[in-house]
Amino acid sequence: MVQIKNKIIYNEKFKGNYWHCIFEAPLIAKIAKPGQFVNIKLSDGLKPFLRRPFSIHNISGSKLEILYEVLGEGTKILAGRKKGEYLDIIGPLGNGFDYRRVDKPSGQKTILVAGGIGVAPLLFLSEKIKAKDKIVLIGAKTKKQVLCEKEFKNSGCDVKIATDDGSVGFKGRVTDLLKSILPALDHRLSILYACGPNPMLKALSDITQKNNLPAQVSMEEHMSCGIGACLGCVVKTKNGLERVCKEGPVFNAKHLIW
Ligand SMILES: Cc1cc2nc3c(=O)[nH]c(=O)nc-3n(C[C@H](O)[C@H](O)[C@H](O)COP(=O)(O)OP(=O)(O)OC[C@H]3O[C@@H](n4cnc5c(N)ncnc54)[C@H](O)[C@@H]3O)c2cc1C
Ligand code: FES
Repeated sequence: MVQIKNKIIYNEKFKGNYWHCIFEAPLIAKIAKPGQFVNIKLSDGLKPFLRRPFSIHNISGSKLEILYEVLGEGTKILAGRKKGEYLDIIGPLGNGFDYRRVDKPSGQKTILVAGGIGVAPLLFLSEKIKAKDKIVLIGAKTKKQVLCEKEFKNSGCDVKIATDDGSVGFKGRVTDLLKSILPALDHRLSILYACGPNPMLKALSDITQKNNLPAQVSMEEHMSCGIGACLGCVVKTKNGLERVCKEGPVFNAKHLIW
């Protein structure tokens, strides 16, 4: 982990309310793993007081990418930051996905499930997994909010989409789309990785446990320090309370207590 000011080299609207920011960040880029995150100080003043956590969306060479949804004070400020400015970033933080099982082409099926901005950490993961048989299920409210379809295709994924209103792809929740493809999978040879809102992750945990499908989920909790010191981000697990920023953000789905 390092703390360092990094130069913004790109910060533009990606789609709707989602923005894409790229930093020249060689020290972080060198050691970052999929599923880890960075904690960014968004302004030079006291507002917002706390840094904001963002998943590492991708790494290319010395460049660190994040994809973010403009929601409140912090992300509004971030969207206003310009190319050439520097932001203080701590990272990479957290544990990241364990993808050693699928790191070699082995006939395994890798299933990625993303809800909304949950695509953010999964693209980097998809880029890193060399096995050919990769499928991504992208869930969104409407067609306008479907993110990174093209990027996942380019990373070798078979892309399937679910929208709540049916404006594109399967009509319904991404968890129902998953249920519809499960019968065709060899569960012993499959592994699932997911990121998205907590109700989606809870539903996925239930489905994967009922079907004996190994699953790792990346959790998002409100964070303060981001480095394990304040206990502001704990979740209930079979080992007691664990910190999303330190023991997570990626957890074995079986390990979590919802
Ligand atoms: C490990 C981790 C990785 C993340 N990765 C990304 C990412 O790649 N892209 C992205 O857009 N966002 C990501 N988030 C969420 C992001 O940190 C928050 O959206 C951001 O902090 C909101 O800041 P704000 O000041 O704009 O909003 P605030 O004014 O602080 O809040 C606006 C709204 O967002 C909600 N919110 C704030 N923080 C979180 C949070 N941590 N989780 C869920 N809801 C929150 C608040 O409840 C409120 O409703 C991640 C969070 C964590 C913990
Ligand atoms: S945010 Fe402080 S312990 Fe996780």
